[in-house]
Amino acid sequence: MYPLLPVSLFCFLPLALMLGEDSPLDCVPRKTVPYHTNNSKLFREDGVWNYSIMLLREDLGLLLLGAREVVYALDLNNISNKNASVKWEVTVPQQEGCKNKGKNPEIECKNYIRILHTMEDGRMYVCGTNAFDPECDYMSYADGELTLENKREDGKGKCPFDPFQRYSSIMVGKDLYSATSMNFLGSEPVVMRSSSVSIRTEFKSTWLNEPNFISMAQMPESEDDDRGDDDKVYLFFSEIAVEYDFYSKLVVSCVARVCKGDLGGQRTLQKKWTSFLKARMDCPVLESQLPYVIQDTYRWCEPQQHWRSCLFYAVFTPQSDTSDLSAVCAYRVADISRVFSEGKYKTPVTVETSFVKWVMYSGDVPSPRPGACIDNEARKQGITRTLDLPDRTLQFIRDRPLMDQAVKPVGDRPLLVRRGATFTRIIVDQVQAADGRKYKVMFIGTEKGTLLKAVNYDGEMFIIEEVEILQSQEPIKILRFSNSTRQIYAGSENGAVQVPLATCGRCLSCMDCVLARDPYCGWDEVDAKCVALASAERELIQSVKHGNASLCPDADPVKPVTQSIWPNSHLKLRCLPLSNLAQPSWLRDGSSLPPSARFQLLRDGLLILNASASDAGRYRCLSLERSHNNLYATSVAEYQVGIASGKGGDSGQRPSPQAQDGPSLTGLQATVGLLVVLLAVLLSWNIYKGHLPLTRVCRPKKGAERAEKLEQAPGYGSSVTQQEAQKPALAEGKPLVSELGNSSHNNHTGGEVEFSAEVEENASPKLTLQYIKDESEI
Ligand SMILES: *[C@@H]1O[C@H](CO)[C@@H](O)[C@H](O)[C@H]1NC(C)=O
Ligand SMILES: *[C@@H]1O[C@H](CO)[C@@H](O)[C@H](O)[C@H]1NC(C)=O
Ligand SMILES: *[C@@H]1O[C@H](CO)[C@@H](O)[C@H](O)[C@H]1NC(C)=O
Ligand SMILES: *[C@@H]1O[C@H](CO)[C@@H](O)[C@H](O)[C@H]1NC(C)=O
Ligand SMILES: *[C@@H]1O[C@H](CO)[C@@H](O)[C@H](O)[C@H]1NC(C)=O
Repeated sequence: MYPLLPVSLFCFLPLALMLGEDSPLDCVPRKTVPYHTNNSKLFREDGVWNYSIMLLREDLGLLLLGAREVVYALDLNNISNKNASVKWEVTVPQQEGCKNKGKNPEIECKNYIRILHTMEDGRMYVCGTNAFDPECDYMSYADGELTLENKREDGKGKCPFDPFQRYSSIMVGKDLYSATSMNFLGSEPVVMRSSSVSIRTEFKSTWLNEPNFISMAQMPESEDDDRGDDDKVYLFFSEIAVEYDFYSKLVVSCVARVCKGDLGGQRTLQKKWTSFLKARMDCPVLESQLPYVIQDTYRWCEPQQHWRSCLFYAVFTPQSDTSDLSAVCAYRVADISRVFSEGKYKTPVTVETSFVKWVMYSGDVPSPRPGACIDNEARKQGITRTLDLPDRTLQFIRDRPLMDQAVKPVGDRPLLVRRGATFTRIIVDQVQAADGRKYKVMFIGTEKGTLLKAVNYDGEMFIIEEVEILQSQEPIKILRFSNSTRQIYAGSENGAVQVPLATCGRCLSCMDCVLARDPYCGWDEVDAKCVALASAERELIQSVKHGNASLCPDADPVKPVTQSIWPNSHLKLRCLPLSNLAQPSWLRDGSSLPPSARFQLLRDGLLILNASASDAGRYRCLSLERSHNNLYATSVAEYQVGIASGKGGDSGQRPSPQAQDGPSLTGLQATVGLLVVLLAVLLSWNIYKGHLPLTRVCRPKKGAERAEKLEQAPGYGSSVTQQEAQKPALAEGKPLVSELGNSSHNNHTGGEVEFSAEVEENASPKLTLQYIKDESEI
């Protein structure tokens, strides 16, 4: 039996420690799981597209799914089962009318279901774009049937006209809060509460400036609050900044909030929010100094904890095509709340006749505080409703809804930054691991139909896996999580899928199961299986914080495969390392395979060129994976290679097909040589053009260094050549994290802010954005 040796790198500990620096930018997923029907349950119907809105009805055991012209009720446990559906199609006259207004009858003039909410009485509220004439209706599920009540209500201001526009809505009690645009052209944005007294935003660019609405959430801020504050509804969106002088439109991310009890003003701000306040959100990603743009949020609240401990997780993408990084930042509700309740305001100042600058307001602030909810302070002054607010307060907030200070993320930096598939959606679950501690697990959907699973282990970001959950590599447009089924539901234009939080069974060995550091999974020593912690019958081997696989029992030896090779031919021995973080390494007859032109080490195997009799022997492939300061080796394949005799006969071993059918050896060598030269040219060109930045953003795979160190480690023979190690020094850059602190000068409080837009290279123009600290400077 071959020992699975956890090799502690005693002599190289300092180096190993340096490499092990905790970094939130360690962005290589440990595993990449290709699409397989086993990984998810799928729902789609022929001829139906745009599965764009989901509503979880855990009380009914249903998932409501809105698509184009139809709503489905699916079995929450298995969304492949359709329990009911109801059609809501546009009528011919509606479609004609829409067409006559210049819209595409087959695309835009359809009814895209956009809003689905549960009402207090258990019915549902549903709205659709309805051929550019939004309408809403009531819907109920009974006796296995989904029924629309046909009480068509005007959907203007609730649901977008344009199916391609982003919007958001939330049902709070009896009231629908919506953020969308109110008119046919999509040019009049509104944030509205539809209730007995409808309240909306002022139509002014200082309130909303070409916004893109992302999400809404409510916070029960009246609970346990000694100030007698009101509940709030938060809105996340991006918009065109008004406060920068910039060569072109600059998009910024924002959070706004309104008070639930807001009834509007008496004369000023009649039927308009008196509590609409907004603030910029920072998610500082080093590589680009242009602000990142918010794409989705997830509200995480600790069960049975005060609302102040709630967090908003948000995904961000770059401003334009300047970068392919995406980021996750988390914000404390308490921090957001503080900016609104204590922060300074920004105010517009006209300079040089018509030019408006936004600066910090430093004059007197009227009382009650503009934008505040009615609280005990106000009540003491005899103000019990927003209708009682003095004009001075209302006029102030009407003209200055923007806070001076931006909201900073937890730790003042992103939790996770990753290059590659753009992030689209996020959800967060909390799970108790075997060590008794609770960990928050982020599930992030991407534009390529993959789902990333990442955990922050005390500052060390670890991406457990990236799973392709959609076959067509299309963007994930909806991501939902049900705590009752412990399942994730994702939607795209072409279908909806359901995936479990973990598929532990994908790990076949203890080493793989433990190194996965998945808090949902552990190794069952008795059954020799990687199983879910939640359903485990006994104690499991798990080490999420340290990935300590030395707890694993020795694995069963790998069964050797017999292979024959013809003299002067070549042979490929396949071997896939356990994970993206692992590197293959080969041993022949127990000692490390010496580097040579004849032994090409590929990512997926070993290529033996121009074989001779001396190449016979036992070849063993190890997968080497570092976890914290230990290096773990797993035997993944073993081959007994013999030399085929000229006559062929008795051994029965046919030469490998590659050996027989492949090109001649010289031809192959020439091809390899040519490819290497081509690759080198391509790489240098790319680096020259700045496509491959030389500064490191993600921690590169350490396998190459590891393999080199291992070869010097006790018990290892001579070295291993590594084609991958030859890649140019991506790792050359300075540690990124340490720079984060100084880079976030743009704190919106004043001074001069330099946006040097050196995104990838110096060729970009240098842009300078200026702030004026406050009015006194003008
Ligand atoms: C898919 O599931 C089937 C049945 O459970 C199983 O036999 C098969 O091996 C699975 N395939 C993969 C790639 O996991
Ligand atoms: C609806 O789905 C189709 C097919 O994927 C897609 O081409 C189209 O852009 C989608 N329409 C909207 C409004 O999202
Ligand atoms: C889910 O439902 C589909 C369709 O009825 C069925 O084929 C499939 O086996 C079900 N899956 C599970 C895990 O029950
Ligand atoms: C939906 O259908 C499945 C089987 O098709 C059934 O088990 C489930 O009870 C149904 N759910 C409801 C709410 O009717
Ligand atoms: C999810 O459900 C479990 C029990 O079913 C409960 O302990 C936990 O608090 C729930 N989580 C949330 C966030 O509600």
